[in-house]
Amino acid sequence: MPMTKLWTPDSWRALPIRQVPEYPDPALLAEVEARLKGYPPLVFAGEARNLTKALGDVALGKAFLLQGGDCAESFAEFHPNNIRDTFRVLLQMAVVLTFAAACPVVKVGRMAGQFAKPRSAPMEEIDGVELPSYRGDNINGMEFTAEARRPDPNRLLQAYLQSASTLNLLRAFAQGGYADLHAVHRWNLGYIANSPQGERYGALADRITEALAFMEACGVNPNTTPSLRQTDFYTSHEALLLGYEQAMTREDSTQGGWYDTSAHMLWIGDRTRKIDEAHVEFMRGIRNPIGMKVGPSMDPDDLVRLTEALNPANEPGRLTLIVRMGHDQVEAKLPPLIRAIQRAGRVVVWSSDPMHGNTVKSSNGYKTRPFDRILAEVRAFFAVHQAEGTYAGGVHFEMTGQDVTECIGGAQEIGELELADRYHTHCDPRLNASQALELAFLIAEGLKSERQALATASWAAE
Ligand code: PEP
Ligand code: CO
Repeated sequence: MPMTKLWTPDSWRALPIRQVPEYPDPALLAEVEARLKGYPPLVFAGEARNLTKALGDVALGKAFLLQGGDCAESFAEFHPNNIRDTFRVLLQMAVVLTFAAACPVVKVGRMAGQFAKPRSAPMEEIDGVELPSYRGDNINGMEFTAEARRPDPNRLLQAYLQSASTLNLLRAFAQGGYADLHAVHRWNLGYIANSPQGERYGALADRITEALAFMEACGVNPNTTPSLRQTDFYTSHEALLLGYEQAMTREDSTQGGWYDTSAHMLWIGDRTRKIDEAHVEFMRGIRNPIGMKVGPSMDPDDLVRLTEALNPANEPGRLTLIVRMGHDQVEAKLPPLIRAIQRAGRVVVWSSDPMHGNTVKSSNGYKTRPFDRILAEVRAFFAVHQAEGTYAGGVHFEMTGQDVTECIGGAQEIGELELADRYHTHCDPRLNASQALELAFLIAEGLKSERQALATASWAAE
């Protein structure tokens, strides 16, 4: 049984593995991985520990997790405005959630490293030509040519550099004044400002500004309370390409233990979560907070075994279960999983990914997601937790700050015909800023009533 064996950063290499590209030049791959091993870490172990602590509060019902960003970052869309706009929408959503539910929001971007994609088929066929599937810009190119689709190890170096500079800008925004609560109105600029969501947000921003003025008069200001001026923002991606993740895994020089320094949080995808295979082996040994996608094929006993393997000490905040069932499966599939986890006494963060179970093909051939189904899945997720007496602790979205037309519906009423207008994603369809904000308002209502119910329950139990 591999779980009881000694873990090393490369112990995954002895196990079966899924979803890895076949590199035509393994010697070049080894050379690139060796170079990456000597590159600076992108995050510091202490930051990963802080995130575990923050997520521990989520697990215990004292905070809420907001995780979101691109399905896949790309070299082509690498631009400061894209980074700023996604960060800005996440800040807006966080403010909406914090204000409605009066509860701290832990902000984690699918950013600064979210490149590699699992695919349903290793090959793609168009007009009788068969080529390897596109697997993300850090592996191969999206263009349908033999040249672009050949996995190229040098792309790992470019992905590292893009991650480093994206993270640098995110840190500057989070700590350098952009995230100052006094700027809450300015986050609303751009194409959404005049939309119904933008106006609703503007009204909320007015109330926050008023509250800040009141607090200032009482002596609470950014000098006495730095959290008014800056925020904690963390990064995450799917730990799919284990060669890259291993190269970024370093022993913490201050407190010991191995940390994957490519991001604060890493997650295992729904296609690579087999207990006796490579991805679970790698993830059990790193000390970062980790996530695991939980799709409709998850068996309750397997889920308990996986939580034991991935979080043997049952540390709150170490493991987030990201549930992605599809809007019509949550009510049937989630309760048995929650009950198994409760019976086994496992502490987890329950988060909802309402994107990946709700992907459909439009009649004109676009991969899309109906806004109504996304919302229905989140609603069902909250309702199931309320019925089970457990805490719906977070949400996980594919979204962008850009005005794209990739998901149908929402207040803008994007129809199938509009999908062609601005369909830019490199993989799955994302919510645009207006849809993301609309969802935040709707979730805020659910979160508010969930927290009121929890407060009443604990008051009743006293
Ligand atoms: C993803 O998050 O982009 C993804 C591929 O998800 P899942 O593993 O849940 O399919
Ligand atoms: Co996706």
